[in-house]
Formats: sequence, structure tokens, C-alpha cells
Amino acid sequence: MFPQSRAAEPEEIRSRLRFLHDDAASAEYPQGHFDLVHSRDVILHIKDKEELFSRLFAALKPGGTVMITDYCKGEVDKLSQGFLSYASGFGYHLLTSKEYEQHLMGAGFVQVKSNDVTEDLIRLTAEDVTRFPQIGAELGSDSDPEMARDLAVIEDAWRRRNERCRAREQLWVHITAKKPEKDD
Ligand SMILES: C[S@@+](CC[C@H](N)C(=O)[O-])C[C@H]1O[C@@H](n2cnc3c(N)ncnc32)[C@H](O)[C@@H]1O
Repeated sequence: MFPQSRAAEPEEIRSRLRFLHDDAASAEYPQGHFDLVHSRDVILHIKDKEELFSRLFAALKPGGTVMITDYCKGEVDKLSQGFLSYASGFGYHLLTSKEYEQHLMGAGFVQVKSNDVTEDLIRLTAEDVTRFPQIGAELGSDSDPEMARDLAVIEDAWRRRNERCRAREQLWVHITAKKPEKDD
């Protein structure tokens, strides 16, 4: 699928895009090179955020932007045992959005802005769940018990995620931050 998708890209895009399959925490990035670094729901897996943010900072051009969506933990005083087990079970290293901002500022970023988009995740997840019967029918899950089980597991995970979000234990956060211009 991936090679076909790449082949379908217009040449002016294909020639400017390179895909690397690598560990974001240790990959070698060119220094001062990128206008934009975007990460969608990955950094929750990475323990040493300061090290990662310093690396992303170094990879950006002066004036460049980092744009991240990620899961965060809520500001609730006491997160439930269920939530803590979920996060540790998946090996997530979750921050509050304030901690996220502080780590980015600690790496040198300015104009750090976080936006709580948890309601969007709740809505999108609920919409996804309504599509599961149709997806199952298209994939032929009626005659494939393993497929039916897999779909049920995903559907259950989606429902649980919405419960955690509605309880404000799990948040979805959109964050942007800038590397200062040379003369800032
Ligand atoms: C929640 S999924 C998000 C996937 C995709 N970005 C998306 O939005 O659909 C998290 C992804 O992060 C990847 N991941 C975990 N640790 C990583 C690391 N150190 N470097 C790069 N990717 C990592 C996992 O393999 C997984 O595919």
C-alpha cells in the first residue's frame, strides 16, 4: 500500500518528501533544517521528553515550529487506579499539559501554546464506533471469527478511551511552539 501511495504523489511533492522508519528518540536529524516538525500521538511513548524536545529544537530552523498532538493526563488530584494501570500497562509516559509546556520551554521553545481538544477526540471516537458494524461487514467479519474478535477489541478500546476522556483523566492536547528567530 505504502509504495503505491507514494507513487501516486505529484512529483513536486514526492521529490521533497523522505520517509524514515526510526526511533524518534534516537534518530539522527539534520541540524537547523526543518520548518515544521509534526508529531501525532507518539510522544506519550517516549520517557525522556526533555532530551527529545532538545533534539527537535536543534533540528528546526530558527523561527521553525513544532506541532504536536498527544495524550496527556488530566489535572485531577488523584487519578484512578484504573487509569494508572491503563497508562503503565501500555508503557505510556503521560504529562499534564502544563508539564508539557514546561518541558518545551525548558528546551528553548517560545510561544508555547496548548489547546485542549479532548472534546474532538470524544466526538471522533464516538463517530468511529458507529462505523464498526459497516467496517465489519465490509471486511467479512461474519465469516471470520478472528477478525470479529479483533474488531470487538478495538471497539472496546475506543469506548474505554471515551470513558477516560469524559472523566477528564485522559486528555487530547494540541500544542504548538516556536524556535526563536536568530535575532529574538
Ligand atoms: C497512538 S499510535 C499513533 C500512530 C499515528 N501517529 C497516528 O496518529 O495514527 C503511537 C505510535 O507511536 C509509535 N512509537 C512508539 N515509540 C516510538 C518511538 N520511540 N519512535 C517513533 N515512533 C514510536 C508506535 O509504534 C505507534 O505506531
